[in-house]
Amino acid sequence: MKAIKDTLQMQKIAFKHLKDGDKIGLVPTMGALHNGHVSLIEKSIKNDDITIVSIFVNPIQFGSDEDYLKYPRHLKKDLEICKKNHVDYVFMPSVNNMFSQAYKTFVEVEVLQSMMCGAFRPVYFRGVATVVLKLFNISCADRAYFGMKDFQQLKIIEKMTKDLNFRTKIVPCPIVREKSGLALSSRNSYLSDEEKLLSLNISKILKEAAKEFKNKTLNVVEKKAVNKLKKIPNSRIDYAEIVSVKDLSPADKNTKKAVFAVAVWIGKTRLIDNTKMTK
Ligand code: PAF
Repeated sequence: MKAIKDTLQMQKIAFKHLKDGDKIGLVPTMGALHNGHVSLIEKSIKNDDITIVSIFVNPIQFGSDEDYLKYPRHLKKDLEICKKNHVDYVFMPSVNNMFSQAYKTFVEVEVLQSMMCGAFRPVYFRGVATVVLKLFNISCADRAYFGMKDFQQLKIIEKMTKDLNFRTKIVPCPIVREKSGLALSSRNSYLSDEEKLLSLNISKILKEAAKEFKNKTLNVVEKKAVNKLKKIPNSRIDYAEIVSVKDLSPADKNTKKAVFAVAVWIGKTRLIDNTKMTK
């Protein structure tokens, strides 16, 4: 396994693999790797000749009042996890190497970037789309792997890839959960033991809602779930919405495939989760 810090060097290596006919898989991460990331790495190892994991805490996707500085960073452990899982390259550039002082170009995926998480984190998806586009160009990825926990992020990247004619194929990967139901996230490390117990309610409530969606009306299901979420002590809801899987527009009675997506604060930690719902 090679750790590469320079964008040009990474791109040169990737080009060489491309020329040699290798299929390149990219797993974009911000580090603090957990088993959710490992599931993406495993998929790439299985599908692709070369697996590149990027580790980059991307400053342009954090608002000025958000947790950029305190975002968990465990580079040594991350490298061990990558090595153990047979990753070929870890791409870990510095901020200056990715975004020079003179940097001026940003990608916006209109409409999708402004709803749900985007309504609360205005620069978030512009930052994600921009860095992911750069990572696609640097890695020459044939396939890129994204977890479905960040469902809106996945839809935005799919849309960007299609609109901008990228050759990279987006591979959505299922949410990985603890036995308790809690969706794995690097931010779970912010939770105290007590907050962690409270946070388990989120996946439980989503699971119950998905069951009810089969035979109850959408409004009833959504309202009931929101009421239950509101009752979690020490919590605050950013949003809890049943939306269409296709384009994240609000689901209606004709929607057969929906996603119930939520962002809920437990204390000072903002957690997102979602569940697919089918009639
Ligand atoms: O999902 C993440 O970890 C990040 O948003 C991503 C896709 C690596 C871009 O910084």
